[in-house]
Amino acid sequence: MFGSQTDRRATSLELFGRDAADERGPGHPIIAGKQGVERVVDEGRHEYLVDGLKGDRIDSVAGHGLRQGGQTLTTAGRSAHGRTISLAVIMQKGAPFRASGGPFLHDHEGLGAGGIRLAALMTSASQEARELAVTDEVVESFAGAESARYREVMQSLVRHLHDFVRDVRLTDEEWHEAVGFLTRTGHMCDDRRQEFVLLSDVLGLSMLTVAVNEVVDPAATQSTVFGPFFVENSPEIPLGGDLAAGAAGQPCWVEGTVRGVGGEPVAGARIDVWEADGDGLYDVQYDGARTANRGHLFTDASGCFRFWSVRPVAYPIPSDGPVGRLLAAAGRGAMRPAHIHFMIRAAGYHKLTTHVFVAGDEYLSQDAVFGVKEQLVAEFADHPATEAPPPGGSEGSVWSSLSYDFVLASDAAAG
Ligand SMILES: [Fe+2]
Repeated sequence: MFGSQTDRRATSLELFGRDAADERGPGHPIIAGKQGVERVVDEGRHEYLVDGLKGDRIDSVAGHGLRQGGQTLTTAGRSAHGRTISLAVIMQKGAPFRASGGPFLHDHEGLGAGGIRLAALMTSASQEARELAVTDEVVESFAGAESARYREVMQSLVRHLHDFVRDVRLTDEEWHEAVGFLTRTGHMCDDRRQEFVLLSDVLGLSMLTVAVNEVVDPAATQSTVFGPFFVENSPEIPLGGDLAAGAAGQPCWVEGTVRGVGGEPVAGARIDVWEADGDGLYDVQYDGARTANRGHLFTDASGCFRFWSVRPVAYPIPSDGPVGRLLAAAGRGAMRPAHIHFMIRAAGYHKLTTHVFVAGDEYLSQDAVFGVKEQLVAEFADHPATEAPPPGGSEGSVWSSLSYDFVLASDAAAG
């Protein structure tokens, strides 16, 4: 077997798996210390071939003597018997080791039923040492930073960025393309357009940061993305006032309470509200300096709030810039399910930045920025023109309403 392959070297691979008839569960070594075969395909490209897998299912493969411990790659294929093969390769952290694409090849001549071939891309030891030396030098350059937090963040950023470059074997052309992309993203930004926030949103970086900083209090309302459309110094709206300010859309009455996790009403909480209009556009997306569908108000002594706005609709995030092209290249949609943005601040409580989504929206399961949480989905009721609206509403036209209560975690919980 492997008759045409050169530079064949035995390498020790430990295989842990489960025979179909073995009821002892995964992890039971069916073949331990089995010899595999490494061959050099070309410069920097090695293959590891393992044969004689007699079990029906392989749960992991640990490669020893290839690199030592750390990074784990997993993939799956099907055995010659049609059964699933799961495979994990444990490699040195940062070592550029990549499983070949597609299902693993099996049924090689001489391998026997259930054999696996793993193709890996690996740099030579000297090349790897050169690359790691660059990283070490840059990490060290931040060692003298006055701020310990700055040092920690920058050194970690450098390590991860360098790992990324090694992982994908970034080409010069791709580096230039990345610089061009970020430059175009920056040029797209001004005080009314925030393409970098949008980029963070579509990469899930925003939601991950939300998750990292989420106050773990199951009684509190959950957070979601801040988004690119918040504007400082929105107008103050009286309780029961209309923040739509002439924006297109079906009138929508919004009311609710702000309470602490103990159920106590939070009086005087500042609620910032912003949303797209009935055409799916925020005021800042129109020419001119119009302010509409945004404002702030304060809860009354009972923690209650109420205002008029418009019923939100699903809308596409701006797709005329580099982020739009990024989504298109990925074949991803740009739609966000209908929602209203809220930011609620009150002394003694953790600031809440969140949305309320419209139940039944077709895009709830495919939000372009990954912001939907089940708790934040609420029923928006529709009312006929014959039903009298709350004070401030227009008689004789259809209207919607939302009732939603927010619960703030205390600052103590946030700490
Ligand atoms: Fe939004």
